[in-house]
Amino acid sequence: MSKQVILTGIRANNDLTIGNYFGAILPTIDMARERSDEFQVNLFVPDLHSFTTPIDHSQLQEQILHNVQLFVAAGLPLDKPDIHVYRQSYVPAHSELTWILDCFTGFGEMNRMTQFKDKSKQLVDETGIDAATAQETLKGSTSVGLFNYPVLMAADILLYGATYVPVGDDQSQHLEFTRDIAERLNKKFNEELFTVPKAVKQQHAFFGKDQGLRIEDLQDPTKKMSKSDESGKGVIYLGDDPDVAAKKIMSATTDSLAKVALDWDKQPGISSLLQLLSLFTRRSLDDVAEEWQGTERYGDFKKAVAEATHAFLTELQSNLDKVDNEQILAKLESSEKSMNIQANATLLEVQKAVGLR
Ligand code: TYM
Repeated sequence: MSKQVILTGIRANNDLTIGNYFGAILPTIDMARERSDEFQVNLFVPDLHSFTTPIDHSQLQEQILHNVQLFVAAGLPLDKPDIHVYRQSYVPAHSELTWILDCFTGFGEMNRMTQFKDKSKQLVDETGIDAATAQETLKGSTSVGLFNYPVLMAADILLYGATYVPVGDDQSQHLEFTRDIAERLNKKFNEELFTVPKAVKQQHAFFGKDQGLRIEDLQDPTKKMSKSDESGKGVIYLGDDPDVAAKKIMSATTDSLAKVALDWDKQPGISSLLQLLSLFTRRSLDDVAEEWQGTERYGDFKKAVAEATHAFLTELQSNLDKVDNEQILAKLESSEKSMNIQANATLLEVQKAVGLR
């Protein structure tokens, strides 16, 4: 029997952040290092997703390669046969399956997806126009690619029959959609057509968490840290100079309660810093919270988080300097060859089911 598949993708639309790192890259790499005897692990760059929002296209090639270099710097082993690293557009079946899935996806279903709604909210915040007008405006100004990108994401997952998909909290809705569309086609055509990924709760249990990870913006700890943030002040990029990143931590928004406590409602800034400290030091959040509980001097606490951030980035960037590009390109080529074989086999079954073959 073939191995179960763990799969995730990281878009190449900007320098990656610690949100991408801890939300998706690290859990996947941990699996690749520890459980590749039991699982096939696919870590890919969804390059076709990278311009659902405007980017500088002259930088895309470099950005795609940079993502893969970061995976390697973060510890992805390239020498194991069941670990695959690839670029989405090098496996054309992704686009072909997307079209077929598109024809079984409701317009209203996509309209409810967070990415589209978030964009709409951003417009409301920036321009002060009301939500309904923003929604209308968006239909005219944002791409159809952004609108139906969850369908491409579903194709990315279903082509390889992935059961586990480590993603941050913001992608859970897309994972649910993937399950829905897989079940819909299985019911309509053939119960064996697609492997349905595990439900979000089961995914969390598998990765040893009680919920999806969400790292907050340092300036506004009620907002997700995002690589497409305009100012970048509340975002720690993996390529940030460690001194600059430490300063960002020192100027993170906290509160005036003057007592460190893990309380996401009342002290989101402090809780978010506790979470970062726990991630950087690979200790449990409870453990870290207990250590700092009650500390009145926020300066000391922030300093500890800033030092951990500095150490983390210094190590990652030093690993990045050592990656071997030739080895990476050879791995991409061999993975893309195997992925075309796997993906085309699934695509053929779908083509047969819908009557194309
Ligand atoms: P993307 O490229 O925006 O983000 C990559 C991953 O990083 C996670 N992430 C975060 N996690 C915690 N806290 C944050 N602040 C944070 N910011 C980002 C995201 O949840 C994501 O897991 N559609 C996907 C890419 C994709 C994909 C796929 C993922 C395409 N096809 C198939 C899994 C399977 C996206 O835009 O992620």
